[in-house]
Formats: sequence, C-alpha cells, structure tokens
Amino acid sequence: MTKGFTIWFTGLSGAGKSTISALLEPALRTRGCKVEVLDGDVVRTHLSKGLTFSKEDRDTNIRRIGWVCQVLTRNDVVAIAAAISPYREVRQEVRKMIGRFVEVYIECPMDVLVERDTKGLYKQALEGKLDHFTGVSDPYEVPVNPEITINSDRDTPAESADQIMRWLVENGYL
Ligand code: ADX
Repeated sequence: MTKGFTIWFTGLSGAGKSTISALLEPALRTRGCKVEVLDGDVVRTHLSKGLTFSKEDRDTNIRRIGWVCQVLTRNDVVAIAAAISPYREVRQEVRKMIGRFVEVYIECPMDVLVERDTKGLYKQALEGKLDHFTGVSDPYEVPVNPEITINSDRDTPAESADQIMRWLVENGYL
C-alpha cells in the first residue's frame, strides 16, 4: 500500500489548482491510492464557512485544511489541498506539521488570469469593486523552494497532471 502524503497546491485564483486536482485524483486512484481533495472553494462552504479573506482568516483556513491533510496523510491517504494559500509562513507551518508534503506552485501570468477570469472576479477586483483580492489588491507570496512548479499558461491541465505523477514516481512517493 502507498504511504500517505499531501500534495499542496498553491497559486492565484484561476491558475488551475482545482482543474489539475480533479485530473490527479483519478490518476492516483488508478494506482491504488486512496485520495481526498480539499478544495478552498468547497472547504469555505462548510469547514471554513464564515471566514473572510483577511490575513488572519486565510491563515485559519489554511491551518484547518492542513490539519485535515495531516490526519489523512497519517492514515495513508493521499490528501490534495487546492487553496490559494497566499502566505509563505503558514504554508511552512503546515509543511512541518504534515511531514510528507509536496508543494506544487501553479504559476500563471496575471494577464492570462485576467483574460481567463472564469469567475469574473478579476474584472470586479480591477474595477475596485472587490477588496483584498489575491494578486490584485492583496498579497501572494511566491514559494521559494516548491517541489514542483507548473506553468499553466504553457502546459495543458493533462500535461501538468502527468508532470506531477512523473515527479511522484521519480521521487519514491508512488
Ligand atoms: S485562501 O487564501 O484562504 O487560500 P481559498 O483558496 O480558500 O483562499 O479561496 C479562494 C477562492 O475564493 C477564489 O478562488 C475565489 O473563487 C474566491 N474569492 C472570493 N473573494 C476572494 C478574495 N478576496 N481573494 C481571493 N479569492 C477570493
């Protein structure tokens, strides 16, 4: 049986965290892994319901997701976290807590995100109608040493999921 670990996606809204997670999940299951995805948008409808996008509440959100990932990881589940997680310090904190932790930074240029704008939030933020929107009016701290960097502008979601699967095999996680 595969030992548990956590795949921790970080990146701006619309970069592809949820899309790539959704492809990774069946790919890992095919290899016999138990998998659980913790998606920021979904977590904020129950476990983190009521939290705002202040730094304090974002950190609380990340600590909650991190705690669930820790529990899953120690029970040999592959936990996939897909939240913006904009702050480096709390990402380091959950990394330490979880141990078997693969940080995946999804990089995408701002002009491409603004062009995609699947949820219409970039438009609102750029028009000044949405405060504290990550990357526009709120900080995003780029990871210093992520295990994997994905460029979602250059590669398709399927190629990115393959890149992660290859890395996991080459580094002994699978
Ligand atoms: S995190 O910062 O706490 O990690 P999380 O991933 O849970 O964020 O939620 C981000 C999602 O909430 C975005 O994809 C977007 O759909 C929505 N959202 C609404 N307001 C904001 C905001 N001010 N900043 C970022 N995302 C926002």
